[in-house]
Amino acid sequence: MTQSPDTPPLTASKAWQQLARHAEGHRDIDLNGLFRQDPDRAGRYTLETDRLSIDFSRQKVTPETLTLLYQLAEQQRVGQCIHELLSGVKINTTEDRAALHTALRSDNGSLIVDNINVMDGVRAGLSRMAEIVTALHEGRLRGWTGKKFRTVINIGIGGSDLGPRLAAMALHSYCRDDIDVHFVANIDYQDLHASLGSADPETTLFIVASKSFTTLETLTNARSARQWLAEHQCMEPARHFIAVTTNQAAALEFGVDPGNILEFSDWVGGRYSLWSTIGLPVAIAIGMDKFDELLHGARTMDEHIATAPLQENIPATLALIDVWNANFLGAETLAVIPYDHALSLLPDYLSQLLMESNGKNVTRQGQPVDYDTGLIVWGAAGTNGQHAFFQLLHQGTRNIPVEFLVAVNPNVDNADHHEKLVANCIAQGEALMTGKPDNSAEPHRNFPGNRQSTTIMFDRLTPAVLGELLALYEHRTFVQACIWDINAFDQWGVELGKVLAGTIMQEFESGRASGDHDAATYRLIERYLKYRN
Ligand code: F6P
Repeated sequence: MTQSPDTPPLTASKAWQQLARHAEGHRDIDLNGLFRQDPDRAGRYTLETDRLSIDFSRQKVTPETLTLLYQLAEQQRVGQCIHELLSGVKINTTEDRAALHTALRSDNGSLIVDNINVMDGVRAGLSRMAEIVTALHEGRLRGWTGKKFRTVINIGIGGSDLGPRLAAMALHSYCRDDIDVHFVANIDYQDLHASLGSADPETTLFIVASKSFTTLETLTNARSARQWLAEHQCMEPARHFIAVTTNQAAALEFGVDPGNILEFSDWVGGRYSLWSTIGLPVAIAIGMDKFDELLHGARTMDEHIATAPLQENIPATLALIDVWNANFLGAETLAVIPYDHALSLLPDYLSQLLMESNGKNVTRQGQPVDYDTGLIVWGAAGTNGQHAFFQLLHQGTRNIPVEFLVAVNPNVDNADHHEKLVANCIAQGEALMTGKPDNSAEPHRNFPGNRQSTTIMFDRLTPAVLGELLALYEHRTFVQACIWDINAFDQWGVELGKVLAGTIMQEFESGRASGDHDAATYRLIERYLKYRN
């Protein structure tokens, strides 16, 4: 969406200014008082879909705050942005492409972009994926000695790793037990080594997942995997590799069989690619039917964001509250605490989604921003986090909004454990808000309370729930970007470090620091060269 040149900067705009004035009298607002004034607050500030219930009543918002936030959304034309996202407008302007991850889970017959029906490619990708999954499960795909594959190792990083890795772990109770799926991302050899250690070369299939097929970590690991096969006298390494990429030429050059290359389109952003053929390891782990349920869940959220009015729109409302917390109440981070061990990787996944998408310092028109963008997302599974960093959440000096996620029913049944888990989740939100009355004799025992949180509850972590949840976070990220007027779909900020690493690797090879560095870098290179074995 292009802004007209005479649009005022965001911070000078009417809606932003109104929120800034409103925030003046609001910073010390008493959440407990808001509940006393409005006994129905918890119900009023809970939004629901068939699968998710999102209670944001413990956020520091009043009806007036929400009205002003929705005005900000209108001003920033969030509805129009959503329409452009879903209809394939090239909103990723710096890369001149659409961001069409929603097409990957759409059941529409057609969506024309650049005179092409992108749904044809989506369907072709899914059916090729289904063929591979079925062939693997039925034992028709076999290794070089004719044995069935028992281990699949997905080699990828960032978006080609985190989404599938999260989904496979989250849905572990749906996973087949005749095949082990591993994920290797880090260029640190320990990562690959750990997976190879338990694998049998004759029954191991590697998926090389890389949108660009140029990523240093992924290609280094893929080459080492090929080397490992060679060391085990593998006669036909090509049978042991599937590539998932937009760069067919590079995959062919690596030596992947043309029939083993699964493509996807360049309008799928890496961190939004779980729904594409990048989801192959997930489909292998849980089966194609369950993968379809994951897509279906995401589609439900796509339909919701497209049709729900702003005031009932869950991703939009949560994004606006994020903006309120970040830009008006001084919150710098968002702690995500899933009280569901299967969602332990959610904070990592969300770090990439929110921080790579919205860690931007210029607007879509290339103007520097004079407001904070991009929440710092962090967290860990409950209850583990309680025994680590919750101290700071309860008694520290910082304002850290917390997001709890919890299933009413567990996937792995044990009522005793589960009741304790859920009780702890609910108790933490209560403790953060209500605190404990002052005890001036022992001030170290005081709990100031009045700390905000949101609780997302669902019945059970099914593929559809996971799909809906992840799509909710994707859309929330996008709405934040619309408000901040930034491009959520590029990631130029990762380039410089890659280029510099290339230069340093050349110096490692030549055994000499070139001197074309700052003094600290130079010294570190010298030190490494001096002491390496
Ligand atoms: O370096 C960042 C990044 O480009 C991410 O955006 C992406 O998800 C990751 O690297 C992996 O990229 P690829 O799938 O092309 O290997």
